[in-house]
Amino acid sequence: MDSITTAVLLLLCAIISLFLTFSFWDKSQLPPGPRPIPILGNLLQLRSQDLLTALTKLSKEYGPVYTVYLGPRRVVVLSGYQAVKEALVDQGEEFSGRGEYPVFINFTKGNGIAFSNGERWKVLRRFAIQILRNFGMGKRSIEERIQEEGSFLLEQLRKTEGKPFDPVFVVSRSVSNIICSVIFGRRFDYEDERLLTIIRFINDNFKIMSSPWGELYNIFPGLLDWVPGPHWRVFRNFGGMKDLIACSVREHQATLDPENPRDFIDCFLTKMSQENKDPLSHFQMDTLLMTTHNLLFGGTETVGTTLRHAFLILMKYPKVQARVQEEIDNVVGRSRLPSLEDRTSMPYTDAVIHEVQRFADILPMNLPHRVTKDTAFRGFLIPKGTDIITLLNTVHNDPSQFQTPQEFNPEHFLDANQSFKNSPAFMPFSAGRRLCLGESLARMELFIFLTFILQNFTLQPLEAPEDIDLTPISSGLGNVPRPYELRLHPR
Ligand code: HEM
Repeated sequence: MDSITTAVLLLLCAIISLFLTFSFWDKSQLPPGPRPIPILGNLLQLRSQDLLTALTKLSKEYGPVYTVYLGPRRVVVLSGYQAVKEALVDQGEEFSGRGEYPVFINFTKGNGIAFSNGERWKVLRRFAIQILRNFGMGKRSIEERIQEEGSFLLEQLRKTEGKPFDPVFVVSRSVSNIICSVIFGRRFDYEDERLLTIIRFINDNFKIMSSPWGELYNIFPGLLDWVPGPHWRVFRNFGGMKDLIACSVREHQATLDPENPRDFIDCFLTKMSQENKDPLSHFQMDTLLMTTHNLLFGGTETVGTTLRHAFLILMKYPKVQARVQEEIDNVVGRSRLPSLEDRTSMPYTDAVIHEVQRFADILPMNLPHRVTKDTAFRGFLIPKGTDIITLLNTVHNDPSQFQTPQEFNPEHFLDANQSFKNSPAFMPFSAGRRLCLGESLARMELFIFLTFILQNFTLQPLEAPEDIDLTPISSGLGNVPRPYELRLHPR
C-alpha cells in the first residue's frame, strides 16, 4: 500500500469515527462526560495516570454516572456504593452482560463462563455452580480438603526455619491445589511441574494484565497486536495453560466412568456426550477448556493475592495480628487446627479478613459489564451493548459506608459490642447476577489458611512496620502488592 492510499484510508477512518462518535453524542441521553475526540476518545484526559486513578478522578468531576471513551469504545462508569448497587443489584438483569476485555476476549473468543454472554453464559454458570456444589463447595467435604492442604502448607512454612522468604510461590501452590482438586480430581505434589507451570503462567499474566501494557492492550488491541511487548507473553501463557488442560481432558476421556464422575472435567464430558446430538448444545470441547481455564485462573490468583496483602497488612499492624492470635488461642487453642465452625465465635478475625479484602480491593475496577438492552438508569438512557465499568474501589472507599475508608480499620466490620457486622458495601466479589461464583470457596480458603498460619507462626517483616508500603505496585486488572519477603517465628 503506498503512502497516499494509507493517508486516505486513515482520513476516512477518522471521518467515520468522528461521525459515529458525535452522532451518538448528539442523539442519545447518555450520562455526561468529557468530550471525546475521534479515534483517541478521551485518552488525552486519561493519559497521565493509570486508568483506575484517572477514572476515579473523573467521577469526582462528572458524578457517580458518566460516559467516557476508551479509544473508540464507549463506556459508562459507575462509582460509589449507591450507583453500583442500583445497577448490579436493583437492575441486575439489564447490567448482567459481560463487557469487552480484549486481553481475555482475544484468547477465549467469548467462550467459557466468565467472558460469555446470553444463553450460553446462563447455562454454563448454572452448570458450574451445581457441579461445584456437588463437589462440596460451601460444604464440609471441601473444608476437609482445605484443611488437608493447610497442613501441607504449614509443613512447607516450617521448612523456612525463620529465614526470609518470598510468599508468592508457597501460597499460590496451596491455593491452586484447592481448585485443582475440584477440576482435576486431585491435588498436585508441590514440586510437580504441572502445578508449578500453572502458577507461573497465572502469576505472570495477572502481573502483565495489571501493568500499563495490559491496560493499553485493552484500549487498542488491534494496534498492539502488531507491537512487540510483554502483552504477547499473556497469550503464550494462556496457550500453555490451555494445552495443559487439554492434556488432562484426554486422560479423563480415557478413564471416564459416567456413573462415577470424579471431578468437574468428568461432569462436563458426561454432559457433552449426553448432548452430542444437539448441534446447539453449549457443551463443546472448546467450552470445557475455556471454562476450566476460567475456574483455574479465577480460583488461584485472587485468593493468593489477597493472602499476600493480608500478610503485609498484619506485619504493618502487629497489634491487629496479636489480637487475631489471641482470639485463635481463646476459641481454638493450640491442640487442634481451626475449622469453619469456629468462625462464628471469632468476630475479630472475621472482621480483619473482611477489612483486608475491602482495603486490598484486589479487583478495583471489577470485570467489565455490559447492558443487555437499552437501559433507563438514573434519568439517562444507556444504549444496549454499552460497556459498564463499576469502580469497586469507590464502593470500598465510600465515606457514606465506611467511617475511615482510607485506613485499615477492622472496626468497619464490628458493632458497638464487638460482634461481627457486615456491610452492604463489602463487594470484593462484586454483586448481582455476575457475582463471583467462587465466593464461598474463597472465603473458606481465606479463613482456614490465615488462621492455620497465625495459630502456628507470627509474621515478621524485614523492615520496621512503619516503613511497610501497602500501596500496590500496579493497579490494572488487579491491585498487585509490592514484592516482599518475611520471616516466620514459630509460636
Ligand atoms: C478472594 C478471592 C476472589 C475474589 C476477590 C474474586 C472476585 C471476583 C470478581 C470481582 C468477579 C467479577 C464479578 C462481576 O463480573 O461482577 C469474579 C468473577 C468470577 N470468579 Fe471470582 N473471585 C475470587 C475467587 C474465585 C474463586 C476461588 C473462583 C473459582 C471457583 C472464582 C471464579 C470466578 C468466575 C468463574 C467468575 C466469572 C463469573 C461470571 O462471569 O458469571 N473466583 N470474581
